[in-house]
Amino acid sequence: MQSFDVVVVGAGAAGMMCAIEAGNRGRSVLVIDHAKAAGEKIRISGGGRCNFTNLGASTNNFISANPRFARGPLRRYRPRDFIDLVDRYGIAWHEKTLGQLFCDDSAKDIIAMLLAEMKAARVQLRLDTAVAKVTRTATGFELALPGGVVSCASLVVATGGKSIPKMGATGWGYEIAAQFGLPMVETRPALVPLTFEVGALERLKPLAGVAVDAVVACGKTRFAEAMLFTHRGLSGPAILQISSYWREGQEITVAMAPGVDLMAAMKLAKTTRGRQAVATVLADHLPKRLAQMIAEDEGALGNIADLPDKVLTRVDAAVNHWTVKPVGSEGYRTAEVTLGGVDTQALDPATLQALAVPGLYFIGEVVDVTGWLGGYNFQWAWSSGWCAGQAA
Ligand code: FDA
Repeated sequence: MQSFDVVVVGAGAAGMMCAIEAGNRGRSVLVIDHAKAAGEKIRISGGGRCNFTNLGASTNNFISANPRFARGPLRRYRPRDFIDLVDRYGIAWHEKTLGQLFCDDSAKDIIAMLLAEMKAARVQLRLDTAVAKVTRTATGFELALPGGVVSCASLVVATGGKSIPKMGATGWGYEIAAQFGLPMVETRPALVPLTFEVGALERLKPLAGVAVDAVVACGKTRFAEAMLFTHRGLSGPAILQISSYWREGQEITVAMAPGVDLMAAMKLAKTTRGRQAVATVLADHLPKRLAQMIAEDEGALGNIADLPDKVLTRVDAAVNHWTVKPVGSEGYRTAEVTLGGVDTQALDPATLQALAVPGLYFIGEVVDVTGWLGGYNFQWAWSSGWCAGQAA
């Protein structure tokens, strides 16, 4: 039987970071992944350029049943620490917007960097390998692998969430948590497009592909980012962000010309350009197709000068107080992350070790810590992986 100090299951962002740190401490480390390549989600992230961190990452940007849990890991391994690593490898990067850092070139540079660090730390990597069974022993754990049994003192679960099963996402980490009696926070798809019922879709179909800068709100939470009409409903960063807060049955409110006093603009247009159509006036602030549809829907046709203010009030509401009730989301098929997961109450925030099961660690997305869109999820993977790597 082969024996290691640490076995990490999952060669994603969190697992690789943990393995590097444990290896650098002189621990013998094996990383196992059932995929054919390491870091597959890194490869496709950020449109192929990996939004690898966010300069402003703090607990405010995360959702968890225990929002303070992430504070320790995020302070011990900060965005600056990961930037330093990226800089050491000469990987060029830029800030796109809102503190979001992307590779100039390719997300593959980040994977190559992590693999090089793993090699330098003498970490063994076994791809295309599934774990049939995990057993607890007097000295740690035994894992049944296709090539035989492997034992370890520390077992790190870094198998991520359920998002995008096509890419190898499984519920394995949650099953291990259940096997060892750890509590779970219910999981659901997050950072995911929202969908409409057939009737609404039929009406909005002509808008598919139209994008606006919007403020999207659900309850007291709001995000100001781009929004996109799709063939299924709504997408774009503002919608992905709000999807993490939205629940079935709730409405979302959308301002599609935020910050514009449309009522004032339309009243002024009545006197200065009264022979123009409302759609033309709206098109100063909205894409033409959208402006046209709103004017038609609200019966705001003909010259703007001829329309009573009550019609213009309706137009204003349709643009900046559009209230809509999505029927659902596109689900794990397209969700970028999974909300919920292993309950942080059961984990030590300093090490990510299960309080009731010494030697068992959970890191990254499998834990009930979910970031906003914008590099926060990778930062959580690096921070939690780094902390476990100091202890495992
Ligand atoms: P991750 O999912 O990365 O890794 C888990 C690993 O475990 C995988 O390699 C998987 O094959 C393996 N595994 C699963 N089950 C297994 C089993 N039973 N046996 C063995 N191995 C198993 N975030 C961000 O901050 N910036 C961004 O730009 C993006 N972009 C983005 C785009 C898209 C399309 C998606 C789907 C997601 C993002 N994300 C993101 C989110 C980010 O990718 C995600 O939060 C991290 O990859 C989570 O890292 P983990 O290491 O926890 O899991």
